[in-house]
Amino acid sequence: MAGCARSSDGKVRIGFIVKQPEEQWFQSEWKFAGVAAREHGFDLIRIGAPDGDRVLTAIDNLAAKNASGFVICAPDPRLGTAIEQRARVNELKVMSVDDRLIGPDGKPIRSIPHVGISGVAIGKLAGEAAAAEAKRRGWPLGQIGVLRIAYDSLETARERTFGARDALIAAGLPAEHIFDAPQRTTDTEGGFTAADPVLTRNAALKHWIIVGLNDEAVLGGVRAAEGLGLGGDAVIGVGIGGSGTADAEFAKTRQTGFYASVLLSARKHGYDTATAMYEWVTRGTPPPPLVHTSGTLMTRDNFRAVLAREAA
Ligand code: GLA
Repeated sequence: MAGCARSSDGKVRIGFIVKQPEEQWFQSEWKFAGVAAREHGFDLIRIGAPDGDRVLTAIDNLAAKNASGFVICAPDPRLGTAIEQRARVNELKVMSVDDRLIGPDGKPIRSIPHVGISGVAIGKLAGEAAAAEAKRRGWPLGQIGVLRIAYDSLETARERTFGARDALIAAGLPAEHIFDAPQRTTDTEGGFTAADPVLTRNAALKHWIIVGLNDEAVLGGVRAAEGLGLGGDAVIGVGIGGSGTADAEFAKTRQTGFYASVLLSARKHGYDTATAMYEWVTRGTPPPPLVHTSGTLMTRDNFRAVLAREAA
């Protein structure tokens, strides 16, 4: 059946749709998907789709270009049923990455293979690192505020930030000092806008730990804290991601409130998913139903070594 996966010019075409193309993480995913395309000799069609309309149009366009399948991180997991239907109508194979698609019952759509991070474990790592650093700095645990920048409509975001929260409570931080700051968008601006009023309302607290679903959210919180006079010695922000946003912060001469990040594997999320899709469409071997990837903690002290190891 291999021939069926090829377009008239004999090339296999695979789409890679992401919700936020300007975000470093998605640029890295695309980069590694591009490496897979070069190695295996298929065409990679990168599409940014920040809303539902654009996702559905993107799928139709992929079909019009004779693509055989696509990998997607959708702007809203509740588009799952529509995405699955539109893929089926167009005879395209679909797998998801990062954000798992959900059905009308709110449960994950199991028929769509997925690659995501181990959200709870990675959140826990972030929380533990923040608590350890607070203890190292000698901060009185009872006087620390924890800012949980929240994007609770997304399962992986809930897993990450609840994992961090639970680790902080387990380390002895008071649960009543954990403040939720719901963000509307998962970028730095969204983090900033969410964090600012919560920090302002709790100005009595002079030491803060900031956690969120990704580096951008936490960086937004760190910038909001700076605006209120809380700098690198008053804030311990621990992000998740590690591709670009975090290292730019670590490379600054003076330490900011952005203390650490859990580095995720953009290679596994980009290269491995694109390769899995290629094997599915050319050989008929479906990807594993569910893959969870892990992360590595890095700080300004070791980020160059960690990134070099990761790139090797
Ligand atoms: C979600 C977040 C991204 C990134 C990925 C990693 O999609 O919005 O910023 O963290 O997860 O899987």
